[in-house]
Amino acid sequence: MAENTLTITDNRTGQMYTVPVENGTIRAMSLRQIKTGPDDFGLMTYDPAFMNTASCRSSITYIDGDKGILRYRGYPIEVLAERCTFLEVAYLLLFGELPNQGELKTWVYDITHHTMLHEATKKFMEGFRYDSHPMGMFVSTVAALSSVYPEARDIHDAENRMHQIVRLIGKVPSIAALSYRHNVGFPYVYPDNDLSYTENFMNMLWRMVEPKYVANPVLSRALDILFILHADHEQNCGTNAMRSVGSAQTDPYLSLASAASALAGPLHGGANEEVLKMLDEIGTKDNVPAFIKKVKDGHGKLMGFGHRIYKNYDPRAKIIKWSSEQVFEVTGRNPKLDIALELERIALEDDYFNKRKLYPNVDFYSGIMYQAMGFPPAMFTVLFAIARTVGWLAQWQELVNDPEQKIARPRQIYTGYDQREFIPMEKRAAASVPAR
Ligand code: SDX
Repeated sequence: MAENTLTITDNRTGQMYTVPVENGTIRAMSLRQIKTGPDDFGLMTYDPAFMNTASCRSSITYIDGDKGILRYRGYPIEVLAERCTFLEVAYLLLFGELPNQGELKTWVYDITHHTMLHEATKKFMEGFRYDSHPMGMFVSTVAALSSVYPEARDIHDAENRMHQIVRLIGKVPSIAALSYRHNVGFPYVYPDNDLSYTENFMNMLWRMVEPKYVANPVLSRALDILFILHADHEQNCGTNAMRSVGSAQTDPYLSLASAASALAGPLHGGANEEVLKMLDEIGTKDNVPAFIKKVKDGHGKLMGFGHRIYKNYDPRAKIIKWSSEQVFEVTGRNPKLDIALELERIALEDDYFNKRKLYPNVDFYSGIMYQAMGFPPAMFTVLFAIARTVGWLAQWQELVNDPEQKIARPRQIYTGYDQREFIPMEKRAAASVPAR
């Protein structure tokens, strides 16, 4: 039986090295022994954007990008989206097993009784301009909660960690709703503990003067499914930020604010809002071929298409497409869907996209559905952040409990000057760098 090792010959010295292969990887540190002489630091790996680098061991989410497979703790996303509630999946992601009836009841009770925000939070919100982007308000307010719960800094206490986790999962919909109400200038709505997680979110968003908010069950279920689909996605950009900041033993509020900041980027969770802008720019189905040509000529991207891991159809996009049909039966069909379907039809037949294995990702259809439900595009990434809060916290827990993890501190390839003589002011030439 062949050994699980790699034999490396350094042609610079003729030296041979044998390094172990574990789980399809070699440890980068096993390359440091490869030197050309005693003063040589040893070999490093160079991997901008971590295209081929595993940063951790994780048992939370499994993705097979070629086959379009996504599983949370071994369960296919399709089954969870069909059979579970979001809080049930949140429990699975955090504790590793599906909850029984009693565990789920306690879990839902705990989350429900942490949806209230400290009254100071309303003052944070009042500090924002009325037209502030809700992602900026979300990130800032989550970070500000670090000042409301200073005990969260004790990240080594498991019970304290869980208390903060329950607080964050309970409060992110309240923060999201607060930012929406601030944008539209409506009074804030307090949580209603009689309602489910998504029904209460809708209550805090859309209750006006009626004494009791009644959510449309089709829409609250669609939101539950959307939250399940967005809950975790292994080591994506936002999760990498959560783990990197968390590795410094930063409290979970500040760490999660950094993760949400990464998610806000248009190449990441901000793509759902960009898709709607793109569909607005295209305007009609007839303009789709011209837009596709523009993209192929290198002018802009087809937002909501492509993925670092999926080189096949994103399984979440399929489920969203199916779920949106249920929503449109209630809200009326979003005419932008026709433009999106034409974009997908043409792109999937076009060699430019096929060659690059570009398929619709989770963001391609989600915004069309959110808009039909009444959300403005600026809220789309906030919705993504509510759901992904669970994944970020599950990944953070795994980080804190992983004995191999320590503060994240990558190396670099230095390309700057070697040591040089200092130049006193009087000897400096005219502007050595172009004026700003
Ligand atoms: C999310 O990682 C995760 O799991 C993320 C996420 C999660 O759940 O956390 O799944 C959520 O972020 C989904 C992705 C949302 N982003 C978008 O929809 C933005 C549009 N997509 C692209 O920017 C891009 O596809 C990325 C960022 C998603 C992935 O980029 P990669 O892996 O770095 O790929 P690349 O940019 O190197 O592209 C490879 C080629 C390039 O062309 P060539 O240089 O080979 O000629 O494909 C082209 C790119 O120009 N390309 C696109 C394209 N995406 C890639 N061309 C047109 N339209 C696109 N959308």
